[in-house]
Amino acid sequence: MSETLTVLVDGLFRQGRHNLSVSLVAENGGLLPAWQPGAHIDVHLRAGLVRQYSLTGDSTARHHYHICVARDAQSRGGSHYVHETLRPGQRLTISAPRNLFPLAPAGKVILLAAGIGITPLYAMMQALEAGSVPFALHYYVKQRGDAAFLSALNAPFRHGSCQIWYSDEGHSPRCHLPDELREPAGSTQVYLCGPAGFMTHLQQQALALGWPASQLHTEAFKPAAIGGPASTEETFSVTLARSGQQFTIPADRTIASVLLEQNVAVPLSCEMGMCGACLTRVIEGEVDHRDTVQSAAEKSSSDQAIALCCSRARSAHLLLDM
Ligand code: FES
Repeated sequence: MSETLTVLVDGLFRQGRHNLSVSLVAENGGLLPAWQPGAHIDVHLRAGLVRQYSLTGDSTARHHYHICVARDAQSRGGSHYVHETLRPGQRLTISAPRNLFPLAPAGKVILLAAGIGITPLYAMMQALEAGSVPFALHYYVKQRGDAAFLSALNAPFRHGSCQIWYSDEGHSPRCHLPDELREPAGSTQVYLCGPAGFMTHLQQQALALGWPASQLHTEAFKPAAIGGPASTEETFSVTLARSGQQFTIPADRTIASVLLEQNVAVPLSCEMGMCGACLTRVIEGEVDHRDTVQSAAEKSSSDQAIALCCSRARSAHLLLDM
């Protein structure tokens, strides 16, 4: 399992109408592990309830971590717990930061956020401003009063700009295209974070305008609908290259569940293909990718990884680097 540490809830702060930011400090008062914008942590809210939250705010400040959680009417437990139960002084176990959404070197960066998707992009924006990298942040929310980090985003920037767009004033991402997206630029990288529909829509628009997929980076907050009914799945086999052990994966089981049953350690967190904890290098075989954590380029690269918690095989056999 990945390294964990104990933190205390240092404060909860309202961020717009529906969001709470949570400040976490090390239990021993010391520095927390370093992180880069785009990183997330697993937060063990209570027994059996583990959620991934992006770190947000100033990535150079090591005495606090900040996360921000939206109130979600469809909550599977995490949002409800943070909003209704979490209190200052409470002790939590978290993982070390893990970054599957890092900033790449760029001449300019376009940041496109919707709703609580602002959290990793707000950290990116702060790092870009501090590093003198030109940026443009476009942040879409439903209405005035909804935006998180409002006063910081309204502050003047030396190296970029921030615009907040309100759907109920006619600027929903469905009918608004940021100016910077109109012309593809070779040295510009684009980062999108928010609901899947928002990211798909803007990605499609960018691709149609000539942006290469390699310059578009996304992070989903909810798993895509993955897998079909079990009856349509095929059985396949998996061999672990280091031990030579071989396992059959039935139609209704995940690779991770079969391996764990056989006492093979599999680092698991979200178990939904969202966090990357279980990504494992594939040496041979064709993967049927079901995760949302890897990009299309990563999924089709010659050096592939498979999410053991959800993905399957298109070939009869997979050889895994474990
Ligand atoms: S456990 Fe999160 S992607 Fe597999």
